[in-house]
Amino acid sequence: MSIGTKTDFPIFRRAGTPARPLVYLDSAATSQKPRSVIAAEQRWYERQNANINRGAYRLAEAATLSFEAVRQKVARFIKAPSAKNIVFTKGTTESINLVTAAWARQNLKPGDVILLTRMEHHSNIVPWQLLAKEKKLSLRFWPIDQRGALTDEQPDQLFRGVRLLAITHISNVLGTINPLEKIIKQAHRHGAAVLVDAAQSAPHLLLNVRRLKPDFLAFSGHKLLGPTGIGILYVDQKRYSEMRPYQSGGDMVVDVTQRHATFKPAPHRFEAGTQPLAQVAALGAAVDYLTELGMGRIRRYEQQLTRYAYRRLAALPAVTVYGPTGDHLGSARGRPKGSRNGDRGPLISFNVQGIHAHDLATWLDRSNVAIRAGHHCARPLHQRLGVAATARISFSVYNNRRDVDRFITALKQIILAWQRSTHIR
Ligand SMILES: Cc1ncc(COP(=O)(O)O)c(C=O)c1O
Repeated sequence: MSIGTKTDFPIFRRAGTPARPLVYLDSAATSQKPRSVIAAEQRWYERQNANINRGAYRLAEAATLSFEAVRQKVARFIKAPSAKNIVFTKGTTESINLVTAAWARQNLKPGDVILLTRMEHHSNIVPWQLLAKEKKLSLRFWPIDQRGALTDEQPDQLFRGVRLLAITHISNVLGTINPLEKIIKQAHRHGAAVLVDAAQSAPHLLLNVRRLKPDFLAFSGHKLLGPTGIGILYVDQKRYSEMRPYQSGGDMVVDVTQRHATFKPAPHRFEAGTQPLAQVAALGAAVDYLTELGMGRIRRYEQQLTRYAYRRLAALPAVTVYGPTGDHLGSARGRPKGSRNGDRGPLISFNVQGIHAHDLATWLDRSNVAIRAGHHCARPLHQRLGVAATARISFSVYNNRRDVDRFITALKQIILAWQRSTHIR
């Protein structure tokens, strides 16, 4: 196991050839999986499979223990006070929907304001739109500036009437890292609860919920080297008492009569029905993998790689790069105030003059370079940027400078061919 190499990730042997290796630059969409994660899922079915919380036989008891051990592992990973703060869901999207249905629907009343930012993913916009219509709430959007940072606002004005701030930690388009510690303190001072969308930060930053103090924090296993179908919702203990069950059915109840049911304590009351057991086992292996590499080391490595890619990309004359400028990356001097981790996560969105992002992605694919193109589920942000689509490269622990070099070489060839064909020089 070492950072910046692909040996632990079988897909790179299968989906590429020595002459045309797979250059996977779409980890913000989903990450590739190390062998240990794939093996953990297989091992579950071969040696551990039984349903949890209900069997009186040893196999089922062991399955329950190993499921709960992953809950503890996840709690340690984000420095949560207890495993009880961790609810398993399908992904970030379901985690946010859970907060919408189980907390916000009960606690917000007509006229209350939900504060979102202009850089949110649709997962952290649409559930609030639906709830706002249902409960006559109003939505307010925190604007962003030219560099892709949240604007300086008067907190008293910004938070007026706000009962919930739902905010992304790292923008999946701009790469902006929002200074959450300061923002969460402000929100709490103004009586607002805070939900953090950590889909793009949990795989790349050392999260510490005891320091950040969010009320809710959501992320997905599949972006974290883990399997699809499993997500996490961290809930601050004091919010549990304000929440109703989300989905209901088997396993989340203590007793059921013809007319009534009593529910297990949290987090189990929010996990109805059979859980994705093999996926939880594999999530545990993903957390082990990242923990062994070290989140601090991962952050430093990805920061350097991003800085390198930014410099090379921004140097191309036909390219526009979005989000925080690269000058600050990795340097303590130019960091914006409040941004303790530097100012950009490991992703860069860009456009090439005259070439649609989708064409770019299709042409790069001919060189086996996989990048994302489109609105990245952030239409309101793209409307603010004044473009329909962007191209995006994003990194994980297996990427290295050779990947960046191959991408830049292929991109330069495309730009040159395009300019020749349209006689632009
Ligand atoms: C910032 C952000 N939030 C939420 C999501 C949704 O995650 P999922 O599809 O795993 O639920 C994504 C996925 O790209 C994301 O980037």
